[in-house]
Amino acid sequence: MTAPLSLTRHGAAEGLPLVLLHAFPLDSRMWEGVIGELPEIPVITLDAPGFGASRSPRAVADAVGRPLAPSLKTYADAVAATLTGAGVDRAVVAGLSMGGYVALALAERRRALLAGVGLLDTKATADDADARANRVRVAEQAAGSLGSRAVAPMVDAVLSPTTHRQRPEVVATVSRWLAEAPPAGIAWAQRAMAGRPDRRSALDGLGVPALVLRGADDASSSDQDVETMAQALADVEVVVVPDAGHLSAVEDPGAVAAALRALHERAVRHEKAQRQPG
Ligand code: MLT
Repeated sequence: MTAPLSLTRHGAAEGLPLVLLHAFPLDSRMWEGVIGELPEIPVITLDAPGFGASRSPRAVADAVGRPLAPSLKTYADAVAATLTGAGVDRAVVAGLSMGGYVALALAERRRALLAGVGLLDTKATADDADARANRVRVAEQAAGSLGSRAVAPMVDAVLSPTTHRQRPEVVATVSRWLAEAPPAGIAWAQRAMAGRPDRRSALDGLGVPALVLRGADDASSSDQDVETMAQALADVEVVVVPDAGHLSAVEDPGAVAAALRALHERAVRHEKAQRQPG
């Protein structure tokens, strides 16, 4: 079977994989800085349905036997099927924003896959009616005459004031990624995110090491979102990245890589302890 999603391996060849799921409407390129800091870890990146090198949402839905109607359940099932096809049945899964929503869907649907979970600049609650309506509007714009330009204004909101002031090269890179975002992927993902349920209960009893991380200036997730997720988790580290916004992994890859390395180390220790007899 052709893998539902595009999968790329980086770093070490052996060991417990760290799977990174990207933000909307970007692709695995957003992890380049983080990956460069983690040569000792086997890292896997996946592109969302319709993004990067992945197949179209229709092909992905067909491949995992789910309806075409946009849903993060389809994306989560496609992540699990792609990893299974690559021989990965246990991994630390970390996602930023939309990637975090998918990590939560995996906690709900494919818990046995998770050796650890990283929830970065994300939230477990569902959208309110205004946010849902806004997503449908952007989906319609992207599928219509605006295409990728429907997401161009996001560059203002996804980076911190510090990044905007001091790092014009990061602003230019993110603007380019937004301009390259595929319209069909934008429309599908927006509708999928609009339909996602409250997944706070997905964290109950998870029982594996967890990281909850937020850029201090993230305009899309709040301290309350962090608190809500952290309280539901038994073994959690909370990290706040100063001077970073929503795209913390792009704005401060060193800090995010350090937090992911610590999560991975905890997960390796936890897996080992689970295997010890008695
Ligand atoms: C993302 O970065 O993935 C998006 O901000 C997610 C969202 O729109 O909720």
